[in-house]
Amino acid sequence: MKKRRFLSLILCLFIAASVVLTGCGDKTETSSKAVDSTTEAAVTESAAKAAATDSIDYMALVNKTHKLSANWEKKLKTVTFKNTVGDKVEVEKKAYDAYLKLKSALEKEKIYVDLDSARRSVAEQQRIMDDFTKQYGADYAAKTVAKPGYSEHHTGLALDLYLIIDGKDVTENEDMIKYTDIWATIHKLLPEYGFILRYLDGKEHITGYGYEPWHIRYLDNKDIAEDITDKGITFEGYLNTASEDPVKII
Ligand code: DAL
Ligand code: ZN
Repeated sequence: MKKRRFLSLILCLFIAASVVLTGCGDKTETSSKAVDSTTEAAVTESAAKAAATDSIDYMALVNKTHKLSANWEKKLKTVTFKNTVGDKVEVEKKAYDAYLKLKSALEKEKIYVDLDSARRSVAEQQRIMDDFTKQYGADYAAKTVAKPGYSEHHTGLALDLYLIIDGKDVTENEDMIKYTDIWATIHKLLPEYGFILRYLDGKEHITGYGYEPWHIRYLDNKDIAEDITDKGITFEGYLNTASEDPVKII
């Protein structure tokens, strides 16, 4: 009897140990999924620099679930220029310098680009949303245009390129998207200048938006841009935010 009780106790201890170990296994799985230390360091460093100086946080995430921070405008430094179609385009200063270098590198490959849109105010975003909703309906607009206040364009760090083919401006999305080889060359060069492609093909369930070969995002960090590009992941995936979960297309 005593021996049986002892054996029961051993069995209970064994089961308890298994439960604890399985629990540990789960934790290991969870922590391997969590933001890795290099990412965490880079993100923390960028946020700390922004908090301690008058610099914006170049790693800031703005998407369907992350609004632009309230004090962004106070720190944002921009430049404004006129593009080849005569529109005024406003861009964050460092992003603009990097863009000019990217543009020169592309010209060496006989690829010519300009900027259709970069920084947009909340009011401008509302106008675009209203136009798209009127023209294509609310469902299409939600997959294509960010809600005012939730557009990466508010940061000044998101740039929409357009192509100049045989001297002609190709600005319409449905025309631009056909130039797959040109976009492939452009995308390959992005990280060298601190940019990433933001809305990847096949990652709509993470970003919440359809493929946009023209929408690039400046991160002010070539290593991180290279890492994200090499891994073929989204910015959300790199930051491992809750947005990795499927985003409800609203
Ligand atoms: N087209 C992107 C998602 C925007 O409107 O910000
Ligand atoms: Zn864009």
